Amino acid sequence: MTKTLPYTKAEMEKIIEKHPTPFHLYNEQAIRENARKLLAAFAWAPGFKEYFAVKATPNPYILKILMEEGFGADCSSLAELVLAEKVGITGENIMFSSNNTPAHEFVKAKELGAIINLDDISHIEYLEKHAGMPEMISFRYNPGPLRSGNAIIGLPQEAKYGFTRKQLIEGYSMVQELGVKRFGLHTMVVSNELDPYSYIATAEMLFDLILEIYQATGVRIGFVNFGGGIGIPYRPGEESVDLNLLSREIKRAYEEKIIRQGLGPLRITMELGRMITGPYGCLVSKVLHKKEIYKNYVGLDACMANLMRPALYGAYHHITVLGKEDWPLDHMYDVTGSLCENNDKFAIDRHLPEIVPGDIVVIHDAGAHGHAMGFNYNGKLRSAELLLRPNGEVKLIRRAETLDDYFATLDFDSLDE
Ligand SMILES: Cc1ncc(COP(=O)(O)O)c(C=O)c1O
Repeated sequence: MTKTLPYTKAEMEKIIEKHPTPFHLYNEQAIRENARKLLAAFAWAPGFKEYFAVKATPNPYILKILMEEGFGADCSSLAELVLAEKVGITGENIMFSSNNTPAHEFVKAKELGAIINLDDISHIEYLEKHAGMPEMISFRYNPGPLRSGNAIIGLPQEAKYGFTRKQLIEGYSMVQELGVKRFGLHTMVVSNELDPYSYIATAEMLFDLILEIYQATGVRIGFVNFGGGIGIPYRPGEESVDLNLLSREIKRAYEEKIIRQGLGPLRITMELGRMITGPYGCLVSKVLHKKEIYKNYVGLDACMANLMRPALYGAYHHITVLGKEDWPLDHMYDVTGSLCENNDKFAIDRHLPEIVPGDIVVIHDAGAHGHAMGFNYNGKLRSAELLLRPNGEVKLIRRAETLDDYFATLDFDSLDE
């Protein structure tokens, strides 16, 4: 896959006239079309639901678009629950997949009628005590050494999440006695994974487990959630996961392991984030400075507070210098931000066209786990989010923070008391 952008330099300059860089820019039409592709691929699956992982892009305008397309919300915190509620996503359209959860978050999730997905067997008693047991409950499974995870998420047996297999069996029996009537099963073992067979293996593993749970406890699982984790082609040459292949293989496993065993109908659900919005958002920035010492640097007006993935995981994000798309990539730069951290680099030793201060640099695939991971270290202010509407209008969907926002939690007046 070659990496292109749906914006020309002239179009972007027009946007920048009104909205100063840096900002994240999302493409509504592309998000909608992608959402429809996923739903169409899984149209065969009874009651199929994608609960968009709110943590990926926690902006109400994005959530509303996805709600209109038929998605629910996967929330992992109180703030995400409130965000979903404000957008109008409530009841079983919310999946609450949290861990180390405080009591008040369970209370809020229960109030909203969300599907509560417990991360640990000890949370059964905790939930019962603080919020009361809902009619439906889901458990998160950690397969431990049975699966290898992948680079970003790590080994399941070293991950803090989920129940062991033995705890699952015990847990379903416990909640059955507490009056729970409907049951779900969830896992998430990969992150940013481009191999569809890894996600298919997760489906097969859960389908097998559903039979085992039924045989051991008599509990019939009503829905499975395969988690998030489908990757996107961040690098040129990588390909998106083939949703039709994914769907076809999951359907084959569903028929063999669920229908043939008399365990249907089983609702199939997911909580993808990155794959839903990642490719359809970018970080737009301007070059402030160039610096030539032992290496050549270009310095942007964005920094890792706007997009942390390269600094955090050494992740690759493609970079386009607008207006220079066809220039030879005959210069090599470290593309840096202004944070006092040496790993504040969007790219290291990247071959790019010659860059000069004032150039507009667009960092691709920042539509998920991008702005969302922002932070205020070094007094960096979180930047704006913009939405390109299908009619060509550009809407500000989150304003940039101001210094007043940054200082809002401090009381300077009582300094001398
Ligand atoms: C529990 C859970 N579900 C879903 C997601 C979304 O993952 P992705 O954006 O990779 O699809 C995450 C990501 O951190 C997660 O922790």
